[in-house]
Amino acid sequence: MMRTSFLIFFVLSLILSSSYAAVQDFCVADYTAPQGPAGYSCKNPANVTVDDFVYSALGVPGNTSNMIKTGITTAFSSQFPGLNGLGVALARADLAVGGVVPMHTHHGASEIVLIIEGTITAGFISSDNKVYLKTLKKGDIMVFPQGLLHFQVNVGDTPALEFVSFSSDSPGLQILHTALFQNNLPTDLITRSTFLDTAEIKRLKALLGGTN
Ligand SMILES: *[C@@H]1O[C@H](CO)[C@@H](O)[C@H](O)[C@H]1NC(C)=O
Ligand SMILES: *[C@@H]1O[C@H](CO)[C@@H](O)[C@H](O)[C@H]1NC(C)=O
Repeated sequence: MMRTSFLIFFVLSLILSSSYAAVQDFCVADYTAPQGPAGYSCKNPANVTVDDFVYSALGVPGNTSNMIKTGITTAFSSQFPGLNGLGVALARADLAVGGVVPMHTHHGASEIVLIIEGTITAGFISSDNKVYLKTLKKGDIMVFPQGLLHFQVNVGDTPALEFVSFSSDSPGLQILHTALFQNNLPTDLITRSTFLDTAEIKRLKALLGGTN
């Protein structure tokens, strides 16, 4: 009896864990069709070509002339149709000297960073507020468990390059400073909910284009 229940459970788990891949090999995103809650519609397989599975934008350095001195180029399902639904994605980050990937999280996606050039201090903060911090050099990889705040800083005196992979084809992104200071959330409520200084909040809102 127990063996039978176990077998049923095992078969059910297999069925539930295999995605649409069980019925079709892939679901290349059709950007011309409306996007539903489940994501992109699948392009008609008859119209799919190898070029849907190839993406070249990550071969080009990102523009680092910005506040964070970092250029980030993504190959997510919103740009790269062939990886839609496959649960993986890649990005490159070019960090000029002093460049930073600001504190942020991805909903439901773990991340692995691979350092190609330069020296990068990277870290994440667990939900019990413990800090995991390391200075990484060429060839090192570091993993950021899903949902946790993390960041990278180029601490070297040369530009840095890293490639980043995700366990999702559309890793939701929330950046801490833009979430707090780049919108119309009232300064008074930010002060009361974060204990930050009002003048500093106003300074950051002005810098990032926030109001109120
Ligand atoms: C797909 O291919 C068919 C047949 O070649 C063509 O009629 C149709 O317009 C194509 N659809 C798209 C979305 O390209
Ligand atoms: C990089 O971005 C800056 C600021 O937006 C812009 O002025 C500059 O032309 C860009 N450089 C390249 C090579 O695209």
